[in-house]
Amino acid sequence: MKSVRNAGVVVTGAGGGIGAALARRFAAEGARVVVNDLDAAKAAAVAEETGAVAVPGDASTVLPAAREALGGVIDVYCANAGVAHTGGPEAAEDAWAASWDVNVMAHVRAARELLPGWLERGSGRFVATVSAAGLLTMVGSAPYSVSKHAALAFAEWLSLTYRHRGVDVHAICPAGVRTDMLRDTGAAGDLLLRPTAVEPDAVADALFTGMAEGRFLILPHPEVAGFAAARATDPDRWLEGMNHLQRKVEDLGRPGSPPEAEPRGRSRD
Ligand SMILES: NC(=O)c1ccc[n+]([C@@H]2O[C@H](COP(=O)([O-])OP(=O)(O)OC[C@H]3O[C@@H](n4cnc5c(N)ncnc54)[C@H](O)[C@@H]3O)[C@@H](O)[C@H]2O)c1
Repeated sequence: MKSVRNAGVVVTGAGGGIGAALARRFAAEGARVVVNDLDAAKAAAVAEETGAVAVPGDASTVLPAAREALGGVIDVYCANAGVAHTGGPEAAEDAWAASWDVNVMAHVRAARELLPGWLERGSGRFVATVSAAGLLTMVGSAPYSVSKHAALAFAEWLSLTYRHRGVDVHAICPAGVRTDMLRDTGAAGDLLLRPTAVEPDAVADALFTGMAEGRFLILPHPEVAGFAAARATDPDRWLEGMNHLQRKVEDLGRPGSPPEAEPRGRSRD
């Protein structure tokens, strides 16, 4: 892998959690970093700590100001901002729309703006923070599971289409990571994510290892590869197992309960 020293790097949703860890790591490796977040104060704090530039606002609108801050060239784009809405089909329309907009379309819009320049100069790196939910599912959170599957599909498509033209794509698919988002996942998180949750820095480590090895799929929890293989090999058995977990969550009587329970559709963002 080419060193990221002096590379122009944008990280969306970097005011905390995984994004802040990515921004810190890129900065520590000598990159010039733009820290984006909807929360301007959080973006400013991480930027100050890392010697980066803060560009607050929605992830979908960050590129013009980020490009200017980096002197015209973005070498690495980390599409990390994400929202986690719970519920099933009964979740509010705006919860479904926000999941689609932030978890998927922000990636599409960024790629649309970045690709012409990357293809012209024959290099660029697109890093999507997806989730193990994009390979598997998240009990109790249909908008999250569906949009993360779409984010992974988009990252795969980018990789297979442009890898011979110098564009590297990575999809980070962690299970639980100790961030604000994890704190809000209720009983499903208690059961499925918290026991094996890792620190955000471990996700940054996994990305840098994966970039050095030229790998598309970045799995901070290596066991996720086995679960994905089991899902692909015997979907009915996998669904039985997931339904068993769903029923355990229902027994706990908290988030992740079935649709006839009180509809939920909130985001913590
Ligand atoms: N925490 C986990 O267990 C976990 C697991 C797998 C994947 N992920 C994914 O990792 C990414 C980062 O999540 P996190 O766990 O660090 O959460 P987090 O809540 O700590 O950080 C997310 C940040 O994104 C910002 N944000 C939200 N919407 C935005 C938007 N439209 N534009 C700009 N910023 C926005 C928030 O203000 C917040 O600071 C998300 O895509 C999430 O889905 C998290």
